[in-house]
Amino acid sequence: MAQIFPKWFNKVPLLIIGGAGFAGVCLIAAIWYFGSQEYTEVGFQPIQPIPYSHKLHAGELGMDCRYCHSQVEYSRHAQIPPTKTCMNCHVMIKPESDKLALLRDSWEKEEPIHWVRVHNLPDYAFFDHSPHLRAGVGCISCHGDVAQMEEVSQVKSLSMGWCLDCHRDPDPHLRPVSEITNMNWRPESPLAQIKWLNAHKDSLKINPPENCSGCHR
Ligand code: HEC
Ligand code: HEC
Ligand code: HEC
Ligand code: HEC
Ligand code: HEC
Repeated sequence: MAQIFPKWFNKVPLLIIGGAGFAGVCLIAAIWYFGSQEYTEVGFQPIQPIPYSHKLHAGELGMDCRYCHSQVEYSRHAQIPPTKTCMNCHVMIKPESDKLALLRDSWEKEEPIHWVRVHNLPDYAFFDHSPHLRAGVGCISCHGDVAQMEEVSQVKSLSMGWCLDCHRDPDPHLRPVSEITNMNWRPESPLAQIKWLNAHKDSLKINPPENCSGCHR
């Protein structure tokens, strides 16, 4: 068989590595390191089967998060709403819309919509929404201002360091439980907030775990 590449070509990779030297190695290491899962997850924004917009529904229409994520305060997982929740409105609203074709299909065939997961912790880490929400940590602290997102993306790393940063100093993230889904809540005044915090933390005995077995059960 005729050789397509001359023999010296075999040395090209070596020459490139040699020539580029240290800079080249650093580049490869950087791609390896920052390309690894933990660093690509922030900003993860998969294409969803239906162009559902949080900005429209939770933002402009002002729907509360719990209208759809109804179990979030009581269970480990915040549930993704079933087709029926959407059809409460969309039997009447935009019943002919192309963007909702898949929703109507799912409704008629009684098959769930396959939404793509955005956030996903590894199985060896334990996370439960309910104690966080009962303690008064708002959705915004962990998910960002979802009511302004056309499509949800992951805004925090969900790394162990991120969990621990808040567990060591949760105060700046605590708010009245009635405001957990309010994306525009701000403390009244620094002094009132400190007073409220002390009473709140005492009454609920808020004590986030920092020991390994708290999150690795
Ligand atoms: C009308 C129903 C509805 C409302 C209201 C709603 N959501 Fe959602 N939410 C969904 C649906 C459907 C999905 C799955 C598709 C997607 O990711 O966009 C979702 C996905 C999410 C996700 C990503 C879940 C994952 O896969 O990791 C987060 C976080 C989220 N919602 C937070 C919120 C917050 C915070 C609010 C209130 C500001 C809110 N949602 C209001 C329907 C709703
Ligand atoms: C303390 C941080 C934190 C708070 C507060 C929080 N979330 Fe989450 N959320 C997470 C993490 C971490 C995951 C990924 C869980 C997993 O993979 O098991 C997640 C996942 C989700 C999901 C995907 C389904 C699931 O449960 O795995 C939805 C939807 C969601 N959150 C909605 C909300 C809403 C709505 C609020 C406010 C009412 C909220 N979250 C408050 C950290 C938080
Ligand atoms: C409380 C009522 C209500 C619920 C519940 C609701 N929507 Fe909507 N939705 C609306 C309204 C109002 C509009 C805007 C209609 C318009 O532009 O005239 C809309 C618009 C849309 C559009 C854009 C349609 C187009 O042609 O522009 C999509 C897609 C959509 N919704 C998907 C969903 C999905 C998926 C769910 C369930 C997770 C859902 N909606 C739940 C009220 C609702
Ligand atoms: C923004 C602040 C914040 C972040 C981020 C956060 N937590 Fe927490 N977490 C808390 C607070 C506050 C409590 C205390 C609740 C109490 O004591 O009532 C808590 C309690 C817990 C508990 C004990 C409750 C139980 O179920 O026994 C676990 C486990 C936990 N967090 C896991 C995690 C994990 C895993 C992450 C990261 C993926 C995380 N948390 C991120 C604030 C946070
Ligand atoms: C507040 C919750 C929390 C506590 C406390 C905690 N971890 Fe983790 N840990 C996590 C989460 C969440 C992950 C997954 C991180 C990811 O996906 O990048 C993790 C990942 C890990 C990993 C996998 C490697 C890595 O860094 O991703 C090891 C090993 C680990 N933890 C050991 C420990 C040990 C040892 C302790 C006690 C000193 C501990 N953890 C305490 C939440 C916690």
